[in-house]
Amino acid sequence: MIDKEDFGPITRSRRRATITSAKSETVKLRNGAIAAASDLKSGPKARESLTKNLQLNEDSKQKCDRYDKISCHRLQESMLSSASSFKNYRGILNWCVVMLVLSNARLFLENILRNGILVDPIQVVSLFLKDPYSWPAACLVIVSNIFILVALYTERKLAMGSISEKVGLLIYIFNLTIILCFPMVVVLKLPSITPVGGAYALGVYTILFLKLYSYKDVNRWCRERTQAKARSLSRSLSLSNTMTSDDMRIYIYYFVFAPTLCYELNFPRSESIRMGFLLRRLFEMTYFISNVLSIVFQWMVPIIRSSMKPLQEMDYSRMTERLLRLAVPNHLIWLIFFYWFFHSSMNFVAELLRFGDREFYRDWWNSETITYFWQNWNIPVHKWCLRHFYKPLLRRGAGKLLSQSAVFFASAFFHEYLVSVPLRMFRLWAFMGMMAQLPLAWFVARFLRGNYGNAAVWLSLIIGQPIAVLMYVHDYYVTHCQDDPTIAEAL
Ligand SMILES: CC(C)(COP(=O)(O)OP(=O)(O)OC[C@H]1O[C@@H](n2cnc3c(N)ncnc32)[C@H](O)[C@@H]1OP(=O)(O)O)[C@@H](O)C(=O)NCCC(=O)NCCS
Repeated sequence: MIDKEDFGPITRSRRRATITSAKSETVKLRNGAIAAASDLKSGPKARESLTKNLQLNEDSKQKCDRYDKISCHRLQESMLSSASSFKNYRGILNWCVVMLVLSNARLFLENILRNGILVDPIQVVSLFLKDPYSWPAACLVIVSNIFILVALYTERKLAMGSISEKVGLLIYIFNLTIILCFPMVVVLKLPSITPVGGAYALGVYTILFLKLYSYKDVNRWCRERTQAKARSLSRSLSLSNTMTSDDMRIYIYYFVFAPTLCYELNFPRSESIRMGFLLRRLFEMTYFISNVLSIVFQWMVPIIRSSMKPLQEMDYSRMTERLLRLAVPNHLIWLIFFYWFFHSSMNFVAELLRFGDREFYRDWWNSETITYFWQNWNIPVHKWCLRHFYKPLLRRGAGKLLSQSAVFFASAFFHEYLVSVPLRMFRLWAFMGMMAQLPLAWFVARFLRGNYGNAAVWLSLIIGQPIAVLMYVHDYYVTHCQDDPTIAEAL
């Protein structure tokens, strides 16, 4: 029977207090029952108390159900309201993925129906080679060994004290300047190098430049410490002095192949090579590179070709439409490239060399500011910038803004170098894109917060890159391929 009193006017606090007390009673009783059960062996008295407890437990459960029937509301926010603490959007994420797959499947079908299969293995090879018997980019990469050996030889002489620090520095400056200029001259002068082959060779030389710069700095820091601390050296710092020349050669080559730009005398090493991990990364590398090539030939090239006419006629509405169309495959390629390079390839090389530090990227996708993005998307470059450029500038008394601008200026120079030289045209789009990061970083930090900041970072990546791509491709076609009958036909 329900008490008469139960049907009287119930205030919210009273109702909540009643329910809470009923619930706590249940918990208490249940606990009591468990405690009694553990005492079962102690005799019939305990058994009797357990039965009583269970009976009470059942009663209070019924009481609770009665209250639930009477009151079914409580003070609470709607789930989608920002005031609610609800955070689990996994289902919505899955919905996004399903929608993405469906819309891309439609696009894929439409593309195939309209263009047929455009991926041609011969064309893929011709991206790298003009003549199958001439491999200029590969030769350029092999020649780079000379510069590694010059650095090694200089370091050995410096370690032995055969040459002074000044002479060593001059040799390094000469060596590093040639590392940047020599491939540039070859790529610009040699017609047999394709733009992709040239970009690959220049990429290798740029990485080598950054590595040997770090090699020079770290060895000098070690010598300075050795001189300062003469005898009380830590083992790691004295390593270069105890290394034989063969060890030094092996070690510099280990550094050249290791997935880092910052030299160190004792790299952290993993215990063994995990074959399963290695094969998974290898599979990803081949799978994703074929994905990128398919997207380029099947999806991007037709859009780029159809963008030439609006670009030449300065038809703004069509230009914007083509730009937005290009943004999707371009962004997909960029995302795949990120995973392919920073996760699959770097981990593959690291595993092979048992290189222990696998922090090649951090959670840049959560960036709410442009600064956070640059601190987290390419850790090897960011680490190098901090260690060999930004902090030395700060230590010399340069201001923070000046040092940041100098780093972005150097980065803009290398971006332009890697794009303009292989394409054999100087338009400064990449340079300006990189330099624009400074005012953009200021704007986003000043006016946007949280999710809006994150959306601004994504937007700059999704829209900013295809603008630069379209500019370069347009200029490249205009200067190099205007007489190509296939392109003329497409236009
Ligand atoms: C320019 C850049 C290096 C600035 O980095 P940042 O992390 O924003 O710089 P911060 O001012 O926050 O300081 C970073 C470090 O310098 C230290 N620092 C700051 N002021 C200092 C000073 N006056 N003296 C010494 N150290 C100082 C900080 O303590 C911090 O050290 P920590 O890394 O050990 O914590 C970074 O934005 C960058 O890498 N940009 C280029 C990226 C790029 O071009 N990437 C190419 C990818 S393709």
